[in-house]
Amino acid sequence: MTYSRISGTGSYLPDRIMTNAELEALVDTTDAWIQERTGIRERRIVAEGQLCSDLAIRAARAAMESANVQPQDIDLLVLGTCTPDQIFPSTACLVQHALGMRPGSVAFDVAAACSGFMYALDIADRYIRTGGARRALVIGAETMSRVLNWKDRGTCILFGDGGGAVVLEAAEEPGIYSSHLHADGQYEELLTVPWGVSQGLECATPESGKITMRGNEVFKFAVRTLGQMVDETLAANNMTRNDVDWLVPHQANIRIIQATAKKLGMSMDQVIQTVAYHGNTSSASIPLALDEGIRDGRIKRGQMLLLEAFGGGFTWGSALIRY
Ligand code: COA
Repeated sequence: MTYSRISGTGSYLPDRIMTNAELEALVDTTDAWIQERTGIRERRIVAEGQLCSDLAIRAARAAMESANVQPQDIDLLVLGTCTPDQIFPSTACLVQHALGMRPGSVAFDVAAACSGFMYALDIADRYIRTGGARRALVIGAETMSRVLNWKDRGTCILFGDGGGAVVLEAAEEPGIYSSHLHADGQYEELLTVPWGVSQGLECATPESGKITMRGNEVFKFAVRTLGQMVDETLAANNMTRNDVDWLVPHQANIRIIQATAKKLGMSMDQVIQTVAYHGNTSSASIPLALDEGIRDGRIKRGQMLLLEAFGGGFTWGSALIRY
């Protein structure tokens, strides 16, 4: 049997920090409200001209360095994003070329909103397990600030920009024990950027390229669904919550994270939390959190990790991984 394991991680955040105090000047909100309702203190924002691929390239280089592999060693690049550089080429193709990966290696984007990294990881794991690749770069990178309506206090306070990456390699022992993906398109209206290229540029309005969300309904659905997904993931592996060392959740809102930790009976000390300083970076949030937990020494080799995400679509996904 061939499995895949994580051999390296990397991440990158833009330099510019935007605090809650700055948002107080833009919309009718307060630092206290944002912290209490979301746990967010600040987020990073890309510079003018800085693109999704720039974040992805930096995160990927850091991941390859930590895995001690060269770009030529990578067979497959899967990039989760909902804020690509261009309609095409895919951001994955741009990143493949910029990194100096082998011409002819496989590279593509995956669009699953905030679950983008979990979708990308699932696909790369299946490629490796079925012999389609020996080494894969799995990236989540987003410039969410480009799709924010800075007049909408229900959304502009939540999101930030960043990139994270992992190198997956073929292994004889499982790293990834299982991963689980789901989607349900009937909730489109609850969380959407409602303009797309097939509507034609003439249909674009200043608002249509921006996120709209019915936050309270998304919140309730996310809490319920993430709880079910935790059960599904543990049951698929005949494990209990006591077998999990770390929860590495998508970082949307500290209250959603707390609810999932409670469901697992885990203390918040066993949860990698970055939401206070990153906000919701969509596809980038899990690999950013994973890299932080590994680099600061909390997550150790051999420990069991539960990764989970929920996002627009709706989409949701999880993975149980021995690091
Ligand atoms: N500052 C101050 N007040 C705000 C506010 C802000 N930034 N945003 C909303 N409010 C107000 C609302 O207008 C509402 O006022 P009203 O009672 O006078 O109508 C009140 O706060 C409560 O709004 P509600 O939407 O019920 O708040 P909430 O506790 O659900 O928190 C979110 C709002 C957006 C923080 C929360 O719903 C959330 O995080 N949802 C999930 C978002 C998410 O994770 N999305 C991405 C999934 S990947």
